[in-house]
Amino acid sequence: MARIKLSAAAAAALLCCTVPGLAVPVISQPTTTLVPAAVTAPPVEPHTDVTSHGPYTGPPPTTTGALSTDVLAPSIPALPPGPDAYKYPSDGKLHSPEPAPYTPSGGLGTNGSAPVYKPLSDFDYESLALALYQEWIELDLFHWGLARFSVDDFEAAGLDAEDRFLIEYMADQEVGHATMVSNILGTEAPKQCNYNYPVTTVREYIDFCQKLTRFGEAGVYGYLNHLDARDVGQLLLQSITVEARQQMAFRQFEGLFPMPEWFEVGIPQSWAWTLLAPYISSCPPDQTRLVWQNFPALHILNQPNPLRVNGADVWDETLGDNLNTASAHDVAPDQDCVNATGVGINCSPAVTHNRSAPLSYPGRQVFLQWDTPGQAVGPNNSYVTSTAAGQPTFAAWVSQLNVTYSPLMNVSGSTAYTVQPDISVYEGDPAANGTIFLALTDLDLYVTPFNLSMLNPHVYAVSIYQAG
Ligand SMILES: *[C@@H]1O[C@H](CO)[C@@H](O)[C@H](O)[C@H]1NC(C)=O
Ligand SMILES: *[C@@H]1O[C@H](CO)[C@@H](O)[C@H](O)[C@H]1NC(C)=O
Ligand SMILES: *[C@@H]1O[C@H](CO)[C@@H](O)[C@H](O)[C@H]1NC(C)=O
Ligand SMILES: *[C@@H]1O[C@H](CO)[C@@H](O)[C@H](O)[C@H]1NC(C)=O
Ligand SMILES: *[C@@H]1O[C@H](CO)[C@@H](O)[C@H](O)[C@H]1NC(C)=O
Ligand SMILES: *[C@@H]1O[C@H](CO)[C@@H](O)[C@H](O)[C@H]1NC(C)=O
Ligand SMILES: *[C@@H]1O[C@H](CO)[C@@H](O)[C@H](O)[C@H]1NC(C)=O
Ligand SMILES: *[C@@H]1O[C@H](CO)[C@@H](O)[C@H](O)[C@H]1NC(C)=O
Repeated sequence: MARIKLSAAAAAALLCCTVPGLAVPVISQPTTTLVPAAVTAPPVEPHTDVTSHGPYTGPPPTTTGALSTDVLAPSIPALPPGPDAYKYPSDGKLHSPEPAPYTPSGGLGTNGSAPVYKPLSDFDYESLALALYQEWIELDLFHWGLARFSVDDFEAAGLDAEDRFLIEYMADQEVGHATMVSNILGTEAPKQCNYNYPVTTVREYIDFCQKLTRFGEAGVYGYLNHLDARDVGQLLLQSITVEARQQMAFRQFEGLFPMPEWFEVGIPQSWAWTLLAPYISSCPPDQTRLVWQNFPALHILNQPNPLRVNGADVWDETLGDNLNTASAHDVAPDQDCVNATGVGINCSPAVTHNRSAPLSYPGRQVFLQWDTPGQAVGPNNSYVTSTAAGQPTFAAWVSQLNVTYSPLMNVSGSTAYTVQPDISVYEGDPAANGTIFLALTDLDLYVTPFNLSMLNPHVYAVSIYQAG
């Protein structure tokens, strides 16, 4: 073991000035002889690598429709700001005594009450149960892709063994998230289900993962600050920040710009459930059901295709599913960006890429088609799509901090087009970029990030738009 050798004089000099009890400075060397006692880690929630995938083919469901109780009104009336909304002066000075040193007064959950990490309301329980359905599908999806596609398939998409290990690791992260949320919910927590994915190639799979993690992430941001149980919100925050990193990593695997936005978007729970449920084929008996609404599907007929050099120049290149996942089938080799050479053209997996031809742009005509309500979706086909909205008249672009409406044009039956608006959150930050949400509404209701769910009674259909 090496130690600094001090000359006698130096040692004496040191000792002379050393306060008793303070260590003599030495350069510490790591030792391998200490064996800390192993602390038993809590067990994870039981889960399997689900072997059966595909559409539901079993008997009609034993229960149908969302969980429900007495419904008091068709919508929540809009009110002016609360009585204290403007009370705090916000002038950089302190306005109340401090409860302890270095501790400003105020805050929620700061009075010393022990956190207990339990839901406090139906709102909390239903939001967490939705989060758990999401964690379970991600756990399955990440494993499924690794099992479904060969090493050669992944290599052809530019994803090597280290990339595949990252996907495997993401699945492990989901085990932890599912365990945490299950523990919070208790014995009736929703269990892992069986799933059905539309993708048939690795690059479609990556696009699907990128879109699925986007609504998983945004779904939680939409309610996190509305939870009654702030202690639960803290744990959820610390899992959803991992989900956000997964979403970005999948964008990078797809060769997209990792985060072409200054703010991440939040959406209401029913939007997330609308986008999630169609990929669940069946759930175990007595599975805890959800209260959330399933809106009809919105098909974006010229959904931008990130697999193309010019991804905006497309028609009908999705898998036809609720997420409008990119299809690889009609992309000719000379239009495919994965092996194309040159900055702005190539979209092989990377930390970041520029695109010479953006996936979308303000002024782009976006052609839409929507399903009618009343269709069976989700686990065992046991949920039914519904809307309280009249004939759709607007497209709502929901991204970053903004909800912006563009009128539907040439509405004919269940088709129309709209024009991608030119909006910025702040100067220099075009709002519609990245993987965003597009909804059809019957009203251009003014909503902001904390009251977006007030739009639900006016929502007809919801999907994801690949703006960039
Ligand atoms: C859904 O299907 C599974 C498998 O067939 C079955 O065990 C379960 O009870 C069904 N649930 C409902 C609500 O029908
Ligand atoms: C402290 O705050 C909690 C909510 O976080 C509340 O339930 C509790 O009653 C408060 N306790 C006191 C002593 O004010
Ligand atoms: C891209 O290149 C890889 C490796 O040469 C190849 O396996 C793959 O098929 C190519 N993909 C396309 C779309 O050209
Ligand atoms: C990438 O795009 C930005 C913004 O358009 C541009 O300023 C930059 O020069 C581009 N970089 C390369 C290497 O093309
Ligand atoms: C999205 O952001 C990327 C990267 O900054 C940029 O190249 C592209 O033009 C943007 N697209 C839109 C629609 O603003
Ligand atoms: C919309 O309808 C008008 C009038 O019928 C027609 O001239 C125009 O081509 C239509 N636009 C699109 C994009 O279909
Ligand atoms: C977008 O959001 C920002 C920040 O809240 C707001 O100032 C701006 O007015 C919004 N833009 C539109 C077009 O709604
Ligand atoms: C949503 O909040 C904004 C203020 O941020 C308010 O002006 C608007 O009226 C609210 N919308 C509804 C439908 O309550």
